[in-house]
Amino acid sequence: MAIDRKKLQALAIEAREKAYCPYSNFAVGAALLTKDGKIYQGCNIENASFTPTICAERTAFFKAVSEGYGKGDFAAIAIVGAEKGTVPNKVCAPCGVCRQVMIEFCEADFEVIFVISPEKYEVHSLSEVMPFAFSSDNL
Ligand code: THU
Repeated sequence: MAIDRKKLQALAIEAREKAYCPYSNFAVGAALLTKDGKIYQGCNIENASFTPTICAERTAFFKAVSEGYGKGDFAAIAIVGAEKGTVPNKVCAPCGVCRQVMIEFCEADFEVIFVISPEKYEVHSLSEVMPFAFSSDNL
């Protein structure tokens, strides 16, 4: 299946508009593509007690998994982050917890698209982004 990276970029930017981030003021958006062509968007959702905060990437994954998608069903994710109300202009790399969630559900060639700006992005494989990961293979 061909990955429409421009579309994922645009949908991650759109999802970022929904971020609930009154504490960090850092808005993140994600667009997750399933191998059968569905796209789940996610944003970060913060909490006054901080710990319950969820990242945009995990919001997208958990939406998809809660609707029936699972291990090996995902092709790519685009991620964008910047101060709320500003135009993104640099990479927002996924946090370690979100990388671990990607390891749970995705294969080594899963594409992690770092959106730099509305015009630019760079593409990495999950194995590049999360080498030497702990996974179900270790159990
Ligand atoms: N955040 C994400 O949504 N994804 C990441 O990969 C990095 C961090 C969020 C969490 C928090 O709401 C804000 O960005 C600042 O850390």
